[in-house]
Amino acid sequence: MTEPVNVADYFERAAAAVEPKVWCYFEGGAGDEITMRANVGAYRRWQLRPRMLVDVAGASAATTVLGAPVSMPLLVAPFAMQRLLHPDGEVATARAAAAAGTVMCVSTITSSAHDEIAEAGGSAPRWLQLYVLRDRQRTLDHIAEARECGYSAIALTVDVPVLGRRERDLRLGFDIPPNLPLPYVKGKDPNVPMTFAEQFQMSPSVTWRDLEWIASESGMPVILKGILTREDAALAVEHGADAIIVSNHGGRQLDGVAASLDALPEVVEAVGGACEVYVDGGIRRGTDVLKALALGARAALTARAIASGLAVGGEAGVLDVLTMLRDEIELGLALLGCTSTDEVTRSHIEATVPYDPVA
Ligand code: LAC
Repeated sequence: MTEPVNVADYFERAAAAVEPKVWCYFEGGAGDEITMRANVGAYRRWQLRPRMLVDVAGASAATTVLGAPVSMPLLVAPFAMQRLLHPDGEVATARAAAAAGTVMCVSTITSSAHDEIAEAGGSAPRWLQLYVLRDRQRTLDHIAEARECGYSAIALTVDVPVLGRRERDLRLGFDIPPNLPLPYVKGKDPNVPMTFAEQFQMSPSVTWRDLEWIASESGMPVILKGILTREDAALAVEHGADAIIVSNHGGRQLDGVAASLDALPEVVEAVGGACEVYVDGGIRRGTDVLKALALGARAALTARAIASGLAVGGEAGVLDVLTMLRDEIELGLALLGCTSTDEVTRSHIEATVPYDPVA
């Protein structure tokens, strides 16, 4: 088997390398996985409009997010329990994200402690993906620990008041090994039968008032992850969100919602430049990131591509995935006739076919 040359190669290798009852958790979506498929399909329904006879010498993917310089407009999205994919887990991902010069957003359901992730990631920008737990003091303690470990922003996940129904997990019997460390969510009492959703003890009662609560308690910028509508985008701006991630949780929550790329334009329009807008879901190519930028995102995030790299090659696998995507972004910029991400505009993209959510 030749060396992987793209993200698809890593997906194929990861599916072959990881036990199916574990990989299903990372690969699968909710319900009939319509939204999960739509996330990827949406990128095939937009086409790029390149401009010619532009001097593209020195084209660079470098940009900033929340003022922090990054090598490219692609960040590491949060995903849980990375030690299920590789013994080094989040520590390997942190090393690779730092080496690639981009942000790592660390899940609340991390299987590594923030101090060891911070030691691995060094001075690279790191965000905390936050679930507000039923035990709110535990959430405040978690935020304080991440702040002390140098995390620079909180990405509050707003689309998981309850966990989506992932039928691959049910079919294959996915469960969390009792010995897997999950330092920031409720440990599993082996004597108490508990679904892994119940184990996470997430609060179903988070509301807009909690955005100000988290901002004041943390003293950190707050990003809202999981916004899909113009109405909530306007509320996010009204409540002082520092950024928005347009996301449907990789199709793992409410099946049948819009692909995140298709929701992006209405959120960008509603925000009107008041804060940065990012998007996740369905990213498989550097050109996908450029399409997101053309539709108004400042950056994109990917989890499954990172998970595949981690499963196949640990730190080296994640770095290889990030490097190939950055190379694809820079190649795409030059062939679009751009030398920087700021030059990518709405004129560089057009829809190919009317949006069909069940495609
Ligand atoms: C998931 C949550 C835990 O998608 O983020 O499984």
